[in-house]
Amino acid sequence: MAPHTQQLTRPAVQLRSLTRSFDERVVLDGIDLDIPAGQFVALLGHSGSGKSTLLRAVAGLDHEVTGSGQLTAPDRVSVVFQDSRLLPWRRVLANVLLGLDGREAEQKGREALAEVGLQGRERAWPSELSGGEQQRAALARSLVREPELLLADEPFGALDALTRIKMHNLLRELWERHRPSVLLVTHDVDEAIVLADRVLVLDRGRIGLDLTIDRPHPRTYRDPLLGEYRERLLAALGVTEDH
Ligand SMILES: Nc1ncnc2c1ncn2[C@@H]1O[C@H](COP(=O)(O)OP(=O)(O)OP(=O)(O)O)[C@@H](O)[C@H]1O
Ligand SMILES: [Mg+2]
Repeated sequence: MAPHTQQLTRPAVQLRSLTRSFDERVVLDGIDLDIPAGQFVALLGHSGSGKSTLLRAVAGLDHEVTGSGQLTAPDRVSVVFQDSRLLPWRRVLANVLLGLDGREAEQKGREALAEVGLQGRERAWPSELSGGEQQRAALARSLVREPELLLADEPFGALDALTRIKMHNLLRELWERHRPSVLLVTHDVDEAIVLADRVLVLDRGRIGLDLTIDRPHPRTYRDPLLGEYRERLLAALGVTEDH
């Protein structure tokens, strides 16, 4: 079976018995998962557990693997990676608009840049932006496509702690305004529980834990009521917290 079977204009993600292997090595071993439209989901797991493989499958970017199963994803999907992947020879606005033409698109691009706090930087080169600003530009580039599903693979992994927290707030704000479904890959338990309403742990090719985080937003790391979720997630990851 083709590794990626995508139907158009479905509102949310649906995986059935999704399997992905590299050579003989099974990375995803029959995953079943539904993500309702508009849900904010984080995906945790050890390095090498298959988080990026799962995200790439949902994005339809996994042509190099063998696999089986069924996969449904929305029509408009945007992906953000750990590095911004801005083209260095294009100015910021041109990067945001990549592949889009016309005055209406340009207006949307300017609005998206304003939404991520980059108003006035439209004509800057990517190299003139800080790492955090480059990630903001990458978010603007995904926003302008009005995604029904935003896939993010450790988008804040390369940022310093303070910038990360600012980006968390920004991502959550953008989500509240636009309400795409989000699948955020991270290896940071705190990032997952502060941002997401549902956290999945990938373990030995399966979803080992599927946890709903039932706390109001905005959340802070210090919220003691998040502690119980943290412990359950750390336990699922095989990490014991030393109090
Ligand atoms: N193109 C590839 N060819 C062969 N093996 C691969 C390829 N991409 C990934 N793998 C293997 O698949 C497994 C899952 O990789 P994946 O990148 O999905 O992990 P991950 O959970 O995203 O890890 P990390 O947290 O380090 O980013 C790993 O063992 C990896 O070595
Ligand atoms: Mg990865």
